[in-house]
Amino acid sequence: MAQYARGAAAVAVIRLRNPPVNALSWLLVTEPLISFSLTVLQALEDGLKRADADPSVKAVTICGENGKFSAGADIRGFSSPRKQGLGLGPIVSLIERSEKPVVAAIEGIALGGGLEVALGCHYRIAHVQARMGLPEVTIGLLPGAQGTQRLPRLVGVPAALDLITTGRHIPATEALKLGLVDEVVEENTVEAAIRLANKLIGQPLGPRRLSLKPVPKLPNMEAFLSEALAKVKKRAQGCLAPELCVQAIKAATEQPFADGVRKEQELFNILLTSGQAKAMQYAFFAERAVEKWTTPSGASWKSASPQPIRKAAVIGLGTMGRGIVTSLVKAKIPVVALEQNLEYLNMGRNAVMLLLEREAMKMEQGAQALDFHNPARLQFAVDFDVLRDVDLVIEAVFENMALKKEIFSNLSRICKPEAFLCTNTSALNIDEIASVTGRPQQVIGMHFFSPAHVMRLLEIIYGRQTSPTTIATAMQLAKVMKKVGVVVGNCFGFVGNRMMFPYSQQAVFLLEEGSRPEDVDQALEDFGLKIGPFRMSDLAGLDVGWRSRKDQGLTGPSLAPGTPARQRRGYRYSPLPDLLCEKGRFGQKTGKGWYEYEKAGGRTAKPDPWVHSFLCEYRNAHQIKTRFIDQEEILERCLYSLINEGFDILAEGIASGPEHLDVVYINGYGWPKHRGGPMFYASTVGLPNILAKLQKYSEIHPDIPQLRPSAFLKKLVAMGSPLLNDWMSHLHKQSNKL
Ligand code: 3HC
Ligand code: NAI
Repeated sequence: MAQYARGAAAVAVIRLRNPPVNALSWLLVTEPLISFSLTVLQALEDGLKRADADPSVKAVTICGENGKFSAGADIRGFSSPRKQGLGLGPIVSLIERSEKPVVAAIEGIALGGGLEVALGCHYRIAHVQARMGLPEVTIGLLPGAQGTQRLPRLVGVPAALDLITTGRHIPATEALKLGLVDEVVEENTVEAAIRLANKLIGQPLGPRRLSLKPVPKLPNMEAFLSEALAKVKKRAQGCLAPELCVQAIKAATEQPFADGVRKEQELFNILLTSGQAKAMQYAFFAERAVEKWTTPSGASWKSASPQPIRKAAVIGLGTMGRGIVTSLVKAKIPVVALEQNLEYLNMGRNAVMLLLEREAMKMEQGAQALDFHNPARLQFAVDFDVLRDVDLVIEAVFENMALKKEIFSNLSRICKPEAFLCTNTSALNIDEIASVTGRPQQVIGMHFFSPAHVMRLLEIIYGRQTSPTTIATAMQLAKVMKKVGVVVGNCFGFVGNRMMFPYSQQAVFLLEEGSRPEDVDQALEDFGLKIGPFRMSDLAGLDVGWRSRKDQGLTGPSLAPGTPARQRRGYRYSPLPDLLCEKGRFGQKTGKGWYEYEKAGGRTAKPDPWVHSFLCEYRNAHQIKTRFIDQEEILERCLYSLINEGFDILAEGIASGPEHLDVVYINGYGWPKHRGGPMFYASTVGLPNILAKLQKYSEIHPDIPQLRPSAFLKKLVAMGSPLLNDWMSHLHKQSNKL
């Protein structure tokens, strides 16, 4: 609801109240679930009318309860059926039309519809710590309460385009520079707004009504907008919202306000019904759902309390360790960084300093805020004795079980008894690592993604004995580092890499059967993945997988003599990646891999005729008939095998719900958010369709077990393909059709 009260003298105060973020409802619906938030909008309208009708009220202030203005429309309302419209737009117009000055007092956040309400006000005062933005694009929409028409009139087209197409939140100081707010205060914002409102009584409001202002002209507006559209389309990779945001802003530059608003509505409705908005809103709530972790043994976020981390350590300053140190420093946690010897330590130190300099430049208050030259904040060492007083250690040495065990055994001896010991492994067994310590309950996997200071995902892997406190502490640390922590169980590859395995495997099998690396990558990138499997493999280095396959005895000297070239343990195997590695083709680092590059370390992948003829020779040597493989088959074999593994992961209890898998894929593997994650995507394709295709491909390729439909997928289909939210409740139910 919204509370109406009288401020000092003649100022009415309308306070938006709907905890926790004062969300406003967008649709008039009758569902009891959101009828509470409907009253916010209704009460705002009532408050405005009441202030207008009361002759003793001369000015109005709008603010939010609990130090937050508003996070905008209630996102849950978008998926409810629309009945009759009580839109936010008309209320924003009502505010603007008021003959009494209206001042927005922005504290905490003013986002989406919240900021649009503020844009309807005649003046805006923000607290110095407030953040503002129009993040609708991040949930598949555009600002639909006239924001695309008012913002360009206030801050100009380039700034409006930036804010609306990226959805970024900006601090009050930046908002002031842009002219988005009139004043920034450090004191009580509501009181400051009431004071300003009092001063404004009787002053003309015409010049303050944004709908009456022209959009500031640019000399080359048309060219500027077409260039912006092209840029946004390229960045969006199939996501519709950014493109439609540009169209709405274009309408503001070409049409009168009322027509622009009509265009905004038309575009908003296209997005609302596009399916992409639904997927992105699912992703929004999925990210919040995974914070509420549980484990099969009943441990959960509700009962476990995190321990404070006052000082941390990172062991190994290679690719991952450098980024992890940077993330910890950014989170203002004092860190000790360790290497195996002085030579590596110096290399690591230089790399960390470079990353931190760059991060400091990007940050609002610059290097001083990070304070990384202060040894109390960041210390480098080779002697493990410095670990005695740390609260938590993150090990990031080579992926080698013997080495990790040696390190954990030392840590167990040196670190104080209450310290937590974390391993950043890609796939190794957490229980085996924990077994060499005297405190397995405090050992946990923290799987970062490269580059670790950029990527948001953090898989948090509990072992058999990991305590709930340890999980809660790792999750809390993820939050402090601004990462998305996802709690998962212990199995080879955990969630992300385990699902990736059948996907990458299919990609290579497709090469054996007739595709070229660029065909496979293109199909998956057109689908929306940030990078296809072969470009990815070249980027990460083919040698990484090669080493792991050698360790597993799948290739190299430990392979039993006489093993068939294309078979391992009775199933199909492709030696293609091994053959490339044997030729020194490790990817970007060597200038050659699945593609060729301008030089070693080059980044521009060019299809390589050598690879094409190598593939032809390979097929001839193994008597494989080359066939044309269309995009549909590429997508189905790669994506459905990944999804199939996802169903097995759910059935084994490795993750507690499909949202977990989706959050992992969106934040760690470049899965397009507008497709909602692989499991959400499966639900949109339809489980019976996925099952039918897997059955078809597994009949054609009986030697690929990863294509055999998961028992859980079959069960869900037999139970009538319930909605994604209900999948887990069917896990242990009997199905009479099986
Ligand atoms: N609608 C419904 N619920 C919302 C919400 C919204 N707009 N914003 C946040 N919530 C809920 C979250 O789901 C969460 O619920 P839970 O406790 O049940 O999990 C709770 O509020 C707290 O949110 P967070 O956990 O995200 O809290 P943080 O403090 O980390 O972040 C925030 C707060 C910055 C406001 C963040 O929640 C956010 O970015 N919210 C979305 C803002 C947004 O996208 N607004 C645009 C809405 S669309 C719109 O306005 C259309 C208009 O143009 C017509
Ligand atoms: P890396 O080879 O780049 O760095 C490892 C570092 O550990 C080296 O600098 C090495 O000197 C140091 N080291 C080795 N033994 C040490 C010891 N006894 N004491 C202190 N330091 C020691 O390896 P990378 O890529 O950073 O991987 C580290 C871990 O992270 C591995 O387990 C890997 O599987 C995992 N990982 C790697 C990812 C990647 O993309 N590179 C992604 C996610 C996880």
